[in-house]
Amino acid sequence: MKFFIDTANLDQIREAQDLGVLDGVTTNPSLMAKEGITGEKNILQHYKDICSIVDNNVSAEVISTDYEGMIKEGSMLAGLNPKIVVKIPMIKDGIKAIKYFSENGIRTNCTLVFSPGQAILAAKAGATYLSPFIGRIDDMNWDGIQLIEQISQIYAIQNMETKILAASVRNSLHIVRCAEAGADVVTCPLSAILGLLKHPLTDIGLAQFLADHNKANS
Ligand code: G3P
Repeated sequence: MKFFIDTANLDQIREAQDLGVLDGVTTNPSLMAKEGITGEKNILQHYKDICSIVDNNVSAEVISTDYEGMIKEGSMLAGLNPKIVVKIPMIKDGIKAIKYFSENGIRTNCTLVFSPGQAILAAKAGATYLSPFIGRIDDMNWDGIQLIEQISQIYAIQNMETKILAASVRNSLHIVRCAEAGADVVTCPLSAILGLLKHPLTDIGLAQFLADHNKANS
């Protein structure tokens, strides 16, 4: 399972990259705004900056919601750097745009996915990645992980090549459950990745090992 970091914060991207386990970055307009990145010129430069830090897979989301606009904007984003994956919302014109990009060798990430039917449609259109938002489903008192399991089963039975990129992953347990459920990728905050390190018995065990070593070697 690949790890993407879900942020536009360059320091956090660098920290995750430095850990050696990072496979990509996902951004969205809200995350860009959170970092204070506004205006087309600055936004495009920010994507280039992110691409200079990571090895591959930088999702850049289109703002357009009509087919022609998405093709124009997505082509421009893809032209910034070969690492860019064009992120497109799960709407009717988005599906048409995903089909266009798929036929023209441009990778896509279909975003704002909340149902197995949407997952089937995106795969039919040739999406490279599919982003089901599991945290937002949990927020509605439904089960986000169950959706990952369901899509994983459908894609396996139907030999669909689209990769499941579990998004809106909020914590370390989400990461573990996504791995069990068959996600190909998780995208999450740095805190969720670092949270995987944590276990009190690791800390207690290490302290004991070091204390024993120091006692024996003093
Ligand atoms: O990857 C999608 C993500 O940015 C949404 O996360 O926590 O706003 O639901 P959240």
